Formats: sequence, C-alpha cells, structure tokens
Amino acid sequence: MSDISISQLSKTYPGATPVHALDNIDLHVQAGEFVALLGPSGCGKSTLLNMIAGFESASGGSLLVGGKPVTRPGPERGVVFQEAALFPWLNVWENVIFGPKTAGLPKAQYEQRAKDMLEITGLSAFTKALPVQLSGGMRQRVGIARVLTLGSQVLLMDEPFGALDAQTRLTMQELLLSVWQNLRTTVVFVTHDIDEAILLADTIYVMSARPGRIATRIPVPIERPRTLDLITGDVFNELKRDILQKMRH
Ligand SMILES: Nc1ncnc2c1ncn2[C@@H]1O[C@H](COP(=O)(O)OP(=O)(O)OP(=O)(O)O)[C@@H](O)[C@H]1O
Ligand SMILES: [Mg+2]
Repeated sequence: MSDISISQLSKTYPGATPVHALDNIDLHVQAGEFVALLGPSGCGKSTLLNMIAGFESASGGSLLVGGKPVTRPGPERGVVFQEAALFPWLNVWENVIFGPKTAGLPKAQYEQRAKDMLEITGLSAFTKALPVQLSGGMRQRVGIARVLTLGSQVLLMDEPFGALDAQTRLTMQELLLSVWQNLRTTVVFVTHDIDEAILLADTIYVMSARPGRIATRIPVPIERPRTLDLITGDVFNELKRDILQKMRH
C-alpha cells in the first residue's frame, strides 16, 4: 500500500492573469488512511487532487506516492470524479474491465475482480446495460466498481457524490464505508460537506481560500466500522461544531 507525501507544494496556473491556486501545501497521508479535504469553493481542492493523480504538474515543492515522484497518471492511483466518465458505447461490464484489459493484465484475474466489485456495488444485474440506461447513482457506482477493479492502491475522489440527491448520497456513503472497511486503500476524498467528511474520514484537512493552504488538521475520533446513525451522535455533533468554527476563521 502507498502513502502520499507532499511538501511545500505550490501551484500557479499560468496565463494572462496567473492564478496562484496552492501555496506551500504540506500533507502526509499514511498508507491505508482515509483523508477528507474540506474547504470553500475555489480553494484548490481539485487542483491538489489532480496533482496527486498526475493530471497537473507542480510549480514548486514535492509530491511522492509510495516514495516515488508523481509525473503522470497511473493505474496505482484511481480517480473518481463528480460525474462518472463512462464510455457511452460500452456496457457496464465493458466499462469496468476497460482499464485492466487495455493495460494487458491477466484476463482471469481482472474478470474475477470485476465480478466481485460489481457484486459489492450492487450492479450484478446490470452488466449488460449501457450508461444511458442507468440512474446517476448507478453510474457513479459503475465508476467506483471500475476504479476498484483496477486495484489501485490510492483512491482519489473529487466530490464523487456531489451530484446525487440526498437519499442516494447516503446510500453511496454507506457503500463506500463498507467497501473501504474491507479494502483499506489509501483515500483522498474531496468534499464541501462536513457531515460527509466526518462520516468517512480518519483525518480531515480544512483548506483556506485562495491561495489554498492547509489551515487545520482534524483527526476524527470515531471508531470503525461506522454506520450512518453516528450522524446523530454527540461526538459527531461536537466535531461538526468545532469544524464549522474553524472554517469561519
Ligand atoms: N486549468 C485551470 N487553469 C487556470 N486556473 C484554474 C484551472 N483550474 C483551476 N483553476 C483556478 O484555481 C483555483 C482553484 O480551483 P479548484 O478547481 O482547484 O478549486 P476547488 O477547491 O476544487 O473548488 P470547487 O469546490 O468549486 O470544486 C480557482 O481559482 C480556479 O479558478
Ligand atoms: Mg473542485
């Protein structure tokens, strides 16, 4: 499993008016840790995630995953976006096996894994369906099954449930909790939603507005396995109050 080690990382988007998006980010995510990045719109959460994914390069500082500098995207870092970017002409099964198949991995191995992940995400009955025939929540589950089939050691999730209705969102959070409970991959999860961050993460990092910095590190002292009803508990509410206060400053 891979840890993520970020030090003095900065990012300026070039252009007529350069945008200083990230400033001196220091962040260490342990192997198997679930981290949530919380912060206001435009503070650089997606930028940071895209840099870990290898979609964007740094303007300064260092970024290591599993001890190696990130220079490009790779299958050991799976990404889930707000909208699952599925191939519309491929059915669910073909979408899920596309990555490992293209990478030339052993067929028996990825097919078994794809079956397991479609089972876990409740999609076994929909393997032949095309993306257009699925609901938003189902498409997002395909996106998650696909990334899990890749067997990535690091999962990078950018508001993966942000476009879903409240009910579906809760179901997806529950699903992710139970999947992660078994896999224990390293996760960086971007969200605006304090409840979601507390429910899912071991550690929450609150970012401040542009240029984005890590303002606070907040460990979540709630034991696992977790279920949705912890949202009504005292520890949860106290933590939420504390985070709200820190976000106001
Ligand atoms: N490709 C780009 N080119 C130029 N500027 C960019 C680019 N991508 C992001 N930015 C700028 O960098 C800053 C951080 O953007 P980013 O998308 O990382 O924020 P965010 O925290 O993910 O916001 P949100 O919560 O709204 O998704 C913003 O000011 C944005 O305008
Ligand atoms: Mg974003």
